[in-house]
Amino acid sequence: MSEILVLFYSRHGSTAELARQVCRGVESVAGMSARLRTVPAVTTTVETPAAAVPDSGPPYATHDDLRACSGLILGSPTRFGNMAAPLKYFLDGTSSLWLSGVLAGKPAGVFTSTQTMHGGQESTLLSMMLPLLHHGMYLVGLPFTETALSTTTTGGTPYGATHVAGTADKAAPRKLSADEQTLAQLLGKRVAELAAKLHA
Ligand SMILES: Cc1cc2nc3c(=O)[nH]c(=O)nc-3n(C[C@H](O)[C@H](O)[C@H](O)COP(=O)(O)O)c2cc1C
Repeated sequence: MSEILVLFYSRHGSTAELARQVCRGVESVAGMSARLRTVPAVTTTVETPAAAVPDSGPPYATHDDLRACSGLILGSPTRFGNMAAPLKYFLDGTSSLWLSGVLAGKPAGVFTSTQTMHGGQESTLLSMMLPLLHHGMYLVGLPFTETALSTTTTGGTPYGATHVAGTADKAAPRKLSADEQTLAQLLGKRVAELAAKLHA
């Protein structure tokens, strides 16, 4: 069994919901399973050590998770058109893995959630791709052969899976649309299929 690491940060739950759909797509591929991990929040005033075990949700990612995976799918809420600091902070701590090339040649994909339709989904997806390219990973997007990419009136881009959470109550964000679910699952499936081919 090969594992795809689905590594995300989520404050209000929308990106976490996308991550669960991505995992479903990964696990639809024979011989592949998803390992779901998150990263601790960071503060701008002081670096406080996070508790070793999160209060809820999946465990925090470690470098061993990155070494063990045969593919990586990163997710973050959009923060001013960019990935969120906790995910960037985690990635900025991976230079030893970059030096040893443990992610080079593995497939990768990205996903995000925004409040607004035109609030920077593509730029956030591209921001997550940059460190993955430096690590030598093969980037996987979503093809227009999937009709949901053309019919969606919510999230979904060729660069990766997305969700438009809306401006309503942050504690109760809009649920993923059917197209958003389809495309998130497809991203997981495509990364897992490529990982399986590369390891065949
Ligand atoms: C500091 C900050 C910056 C944000 N910047 C954007 C933005 O540029 N565009 C946007 O549409 N939403 C923006 N948002 C809203 C979040 O991206 C959105 O609520 C997202 O769905 C949250 O995901 P989560 O539920 O996984 O935490 C921002 C939120 C915060 C706290």
